[in-house]
Amino acid sequence: ERVPYTAEEAEKGGFPHFMLKEIHQQPHAIADTFAGRLAAGTLQQELGIGTDEARAIRRIDMIACGTSWHSALIGRRLFEEFAGIPASAEIASEYRYRPRPTEEGTYALAITQSGETADTIAALRATREAGARTGAICNVVGSTVAREADGVLYTRAGPEISVASTKAFTTQVTALLLMALTLGRLRGRLDPARAGQLSEALVKAPEKIAGLLGRMAAPLQALAREKANSNDFLYLGRGYGYPLALEGALKLKEISYIHAEGYPSGELKHGPIALISKGLPVVAIAPNDSLRDKVLSNLEEVKARDGTVIAVGTEGDADLASLADHAVWIPPVEPAIVPLYASLPLQLFAYFMAVERGCDVDQPRNLAKSVTVE
Ligand code: G6P
Repeated sequence: ERVPYTAEEAEKGGFPHFMLKEIHQQPHAIADTFAGRLAAGTLQQELGIGTDEARAIRRIDMIACGTSWHSALIGRRLFEEFAGIPASAEIASEYRYRPRPTEEGTYALAITQSGETADTIAALRATREAGARTGAICNVVGSTVAREADGVLYTRAGPEISVASTKAFTTQVTALLLMALTLGRLRGRLDPARAGQLSEALVKAPEKIAGLLGRMAAPLQALAREKANSNDFLYLGRGYGYPLALEGALKLKEISYIHAEGYPSGELKHGPIALISKGLPVVAIAPNDSLRDKVLSNLEEVKARDGTVIAVGTEGDADLASLADHAVWIPPVEPAIVPLYASLPLQLFAYFMAVERGCDVDQPRNLAKSVTVE
C-alpha cells in the first residue's frame, strides 16, 4: 500500500509551499526566540557583554543584506528608542568598502539568517580588524558568522527552506527587541515597569498573530486575485512602518517578479508621487502610532491622484477605513511590536500574488537562499 503523500509533501506539513508553511510557523518561532530570555542577565550571557561594557557602547552598527537589512532598520529604531544608543543599519556590501573611521565604543552587530552571506562575513571581519566588539543575530548554529562574532544571539526560527525569508525576519526583529530592552535596562534608559509592559506585549504576540493569520488569509487571497495583473506597486510607511514597506516590496519583487518600490511615505512628495496615476496600487502601513496622521495625509495625496490604497492599519481606525480601497486590520499593539504583526499580511499578499501568477514560490528565478559569493 502506498502512502498518500510524497516525502516532500510530508516535509511541507500539508502546506502547498514551504513559504506558506514558514509564514504559519511564525507564532512558534517568535515564542521560541524569546523563551527563557526575558529574565535580566540571560541575554547578556549569550552575547558575552559585561554590564560595564554594555554601558560603554557608544554606537551600534548593524551589518546585513536583503531582508536581514530590513530587520536592521527596525533594530536601529529599537536601539535608539529604548536603549538611547545611536545606531545605524548598514548594507554589508557597502560597509565593507567604506573608508569609515572607527570610533571607540562601536559595537558591530551582524544580522544574518544563514550566517554564510559573503558580504556580511567580510564586513564583520573588517570591523573586527578595526577593533570593534562584535555580535551576531543568526539562525544557523555554528555558521561562519556565528563562529567569528564575539557573541551570538540565535534566532530560533528552525530551518528556513523558502528563498523568500519570512520567519527569519520576524525572529530577528524579536531578537533585536530583546537586545534593545536589555541594553535599555542596563543603561538606565528604560524603567522596569516600561520594560515589563514591552515584554508582556511581546509574550502576547504569538497567540494573537496565530489568530490574525487565520483571519487574513482568505481576504488577502481574494485581493491577490483582483490585483494579479498589476505590474507596479508602491509601498509606503513611516517609523517602524518604513522598513516594513521595504520588506513588503522586496517580497513582491522576489517571488512574483512584480516591480515594487518601498518608500518612507514622507518622501512621496520628493519623487514617487509622479508615479501615481489611476489605479496604481499603493500599499500603506499605517498602524495607530505617533506617525499615523502623517501617513494618512500622504494617503490623501494618493487618493487625490486616483491611486488605489491597500492599507494595513489598526482595528477601529475609521479615518483610514474611509481612505482605503482595501484594508487589513491588526489589533492595537505597542508600536515597537507592530512589525511582528504587520509583516504577516505583506508576506501573505506576496505569496498569493506569486501563486496567482503561476510563479515558482519557493525557488524564484535568479535568487539563491544564501549568497556565498560577493
Ligand atoms: C539572500 C536571500 C534573502 C536574504 C539575504 C541575506 O539574498 O535570498 O532572503 O535576506 O540573502 O541572507 P542572510 O542569510 O544573510 O540573512
